[in-house]
Amino acid sequence: MMIRVARDGDVGAMRAIEVAADRMFQDVGMDFGPAGEPPSAETLLKYVRDGRAWVADVEGPVAYLVVDWVDGNVHIEQVSLNPAYGRRGLGAALIETAAAWAREHGSTALTLTTFVEVAWNAPYYERLGFRLLADDELTPDLRKVRNHEATLGLDRWLRAAMRRDL
Ligand SMILES: CC(C)(COP(=O)(O)OP(=O)(O)OC[C@H]1O[C@@H](n2cnc3c(N)ncnc32)[C@H](O)[C@@H]1OP(=O)(O)O)[C@@H](O)C(=O)NCCC(=O)NCCS
Repeated sequence: MMIRVARDGDVGAMRAIEVAADRMFQDVGMDFGPAGEPPSAETLLKYVRDGRAWVADVEGPVAYLVVDWVDGNVHIEQVSLNPAYGRRGLGAALIETAAAWAREHGSTALTLTTFVEVAWNAPYYERLGFRLLADDELTPDLRKVRNHEATLGLDRWLRAAMRRDL
């Protein structure tokens, strides 16, 4: 297994990973409807070409992570894994890669938004050094991310932003 920067040719695999990862939520009765569609190839290509996308490669990509800049911090927009390759540290390795990249690029924190009560979401990120942010701790663009998610219907399940200081 290696973590590497994503290439243009990985985009199809990244979309397939997203579909596979979504099954973990469907299995616990969480159906996101249209909001659960994988990002378009065009959207993913933009991350790839900006150098803001990484994959875990096991004879091809089986997990990926993409980041945005939100309020001056590197923000994990998505981290997704084919569950057939779960629980062997690939998610953590991708997140550590993002942390190193963030430090190199002058970001003093990593942020993300996630489901509070899903085992492989907030409790997992807490183990990796993130803490939940209260609503009054949200910086302006992080608040916009949360508001947008609410309009997509994702707040049917408790969601929150998290931050890991670097
Ligand atoms: C979040 C995700 C990337 C973690 O990937 P991973 O490579 O399996 O994680 P790691 O191997 O680094 O860590 C494993 C830990 O994650 C948690 N975890 C992973 N899968 C889990 C599951 N099915 N049930 C409960 N906990 C789980 C546990 O804490 C586990 O530790 P343990 O095996 O010692 O119990 C992956 O679960 C995923 O793609 N999930 C679906 C998409 C998603 O939730 N993305 C984030 C949206 S905000």
